[in-house]
Amino acid sequence: MSLSERDQKVIWHPYTQAELNEPPIAIVKGEGVWLYDNFGTKYIDAVSSWWVNIHGHAHPYIAEKVANQLGTLEHVIFAGFTHEPAIVLAERLIELLPDNHSRIFYSDNGSTATEVAIKMAIQFWGNQGIQKNKIIAFEHAYHGDTFGAMSISARGAFTHSFSSLLFDVIHIPLPEAGQQERTIEALKKILKENENEIAAFIFEPLILGAGGMLMYEASVLDALIELCQLNDILTIADEVMTGFGRTGKYFATDYLKNKPDIICLSKGITGGTMPLGVTSCSEKIYNGFLSLNRNKTFFHGHSYTANPLACTAAIASLDLLTEQQCLDDIKRITHSHQSFLLKHQKTPFLKNLRCFGTILALDLMSTDPDSYFNPLRDKLYHYFLAKNILLRPLGNTIYLMPPYCISEKELNTIYKAIEGVETIL
Ligand SMILES: Cc1ncc(COP(=O)(O)O)c(C=O)c1O
Repeated sequence: MSLSERDQKVIWHPYTQAELNEPPIAIVKGEGVWLYDNFGTKYIDAVSSWWVNIHGHAHPYIAEKVANQLGTLEHVIFAGFTHEPAIVLAERLIELLPDNHSRIFYSDNGSTATEVAIKMAIQFWGNQGIQKNKIIAFEHAYHGDTFGAMSISARGAFTHSFSSLLFDVIHIPLPEAGQQERTIEALKKILKENENEIAAFIFEPLILGAGGMLMYEASVLDALIELCQLNDILTIADEVMTGFGRTGKYFATDYLKNKPDIICLSKGITGGTMPLGVTSCSEKIYNGFLSLNRNKTFFHGHSYTANPLACTAAIASLDLLTEQQCLDDIKRITHSHQSFLLKHQKTPFLKNLRCFGTILALDLMSTDPDSYFNPLRDKLYHYFLAKNILLRPLGNTIYLMPPYCISEKELNTIYKAIEGVETIL
């Protein structure tokens, strides 16, 4: 039996309807932007394997560091004990994060990073005897798949089966171009109607990922954060997708004047090597948990919290990210995306071309509604695979989020494939 056939007998894959989808492609090797299957076919990983891989696959520098760590300390309980990779990583992150951030709380994926953030925010108020438990989030938001993360995400197909079990969240419209005032007014109204009841506002800064690569301006987010700050509402930036250079700066919050109290990180943090989540916060938040009363402890932790291998991979990834070569690559990709965007302003089968740093997105004209379930999705997925490109369109939205080591030639292969999409519409 082939690997794919064996897989089909024992494995249940994420976000996959086994009754409709074809067997998975078995990957046996990764190198740079390329993934190799067991028949020798290779694919450009144009989505960085669900947005995690920023330096290319099987990067020798990260591999060497992780291998060395593996022979020294693979894991240790993180309550009552600590270790150097966790400390070094925290020091390095605090150096890069906004100035008001001074504490790192570890977990192991993006959903846990956001769960931790909302628990931190609610308990921060509770520890002071203030009962605030309402959360504000954007319409179309996606913050993960655990119950808290689903609650703060947009309601839709992903959350439908659990809707009666999710806690209520106040959703405000996304401040897309031309709609900024509407969002600001919506927030003002909510603040009036829920005085002293709102614990936090959580947002994906400047671009909503799974919601369709929807972009909005820094100035309006600054205004929303300011309103929250004036009303004693904590602000949480979910940088799980946007962190580590994706948007052209280390963090999307670097584009803001007003800095959030809490930031969620994951995905690119280890260069796509190991699972790791981080929730960073200001000293004000951390101090809110210091007490002689043990009930004010933050009772949250996972078995693999701050895994030394994951922390080591993250330090190695940061070494690479902060090198001039990588920063130049990010700029180069940004410029290439912008040129593609300019070239196709008037291409009739493409619309809403947008780009932000290394992310390029566009929607295809379709007779069906723009949505995650647009039937063009499967056609597009297979079209790109046949051209040796791994893209996972969100409905009729195509997006590129490549590893930063992608070459101009490889980028042009993808752009050319997009230009040829008309043949399957
Ligand atoms: C903004 C954002 N937050 C949270 C998550 C959840 O991360 P994970 O898939 O690691 O649980 C994602 C995943 O796509 C995300 O894009």
